[in-house]
Amino acid sequence: MKNIVMLGAPGAGKGTQSALIAKEYGIPHISTGDILRRNIKEGTELGKLAKSYIDAGALVPDEVVIGIVADRLSEADAKNGYVLDGFPRTIAQAEALDKVAKIDVAINIVVGFDVIVNRLSGRRVCVCGATYHTSTLGGRTTCSVCGKELFIRDDDKPETVKARLETYEKQTAPLIGYYANAGILVDVDATGTIEQDFEKIKKVLND
Ligand code: AP5
Repeated sequence: MKNIVMLGAPGAGKGTQSALIAKEYGIPHISTGDILRRNIKEGTELGKLAKSYIDAGALVPDEVVIGIVADRLSEADAKNGYVLDGFPRTIAQAEALDKVAKIDVAINIVVGFDVIVNRLSGRRVCVCGATYHTSTLGGRTTCSVCGKELFIRDDDKPETVKARLETYEKQTAPLIGYYANAGILVDVDATGTIEQDFEKIKKVLND
């Protein structure tokens, strides 16, 4: 299977589509956001460091996340492909990644500003990692996977969202040009339903 990078603004749907890709193709879903949030929950040194950046809508320093991802990619389950969600996020991270991996395709999840705001403001998550949107929950407040109460991510507060979107424009959007230059960028319009968007992505990956 391929080594895949998922690009896209906060809330575009990277995590949702990465989980579907991982399940469909039997490859690991490696999300730096999930790894950092797990460390915050467990109160590790990494978690303490990451929290201040995440709460401010800023990026955790490159050297920290590059180390995390390099370690994760050296694990046995990453030998036959993986989907990277939320990494790289800066040109320096992309260059570091190129030193330890050969990326086959970068899928850029494209949605407009209004869709981003709607997806972030309606997101509900569970400690088990499941993600939902209020539009499809039908008023339910618990997780259909593990039954626990759903909650709103701390960084989905409006003031933090604004900072995250600014950070994305400044530091992450240049990666679109980086992967276009490498000849491996594919834009996917992701304004349909989750299933419709996934069909488009499967077409790209099965080509
Ligand atoms: P991270 O967790 O990576 O956050 P993000 O990039 O801001 O992305 P999100 O998780 O918010 O959104 P998503 O695109 O995955 O959307 P989702 O699928 O959930 O990072 C968080 C923080 O960690 C960063 O701000 C930074 O501080 C730090 N960090 C992480 N990686 C780092 C790195 N490499 N370097 C430095 N710092 C790093 O979907 C959103 C909602 O929309 C959900 O409710 C979902 O159900 C819904 N939805 C999705 N698709 C559809 C659809 N087609 N129709 C309707 N609803 C949909």
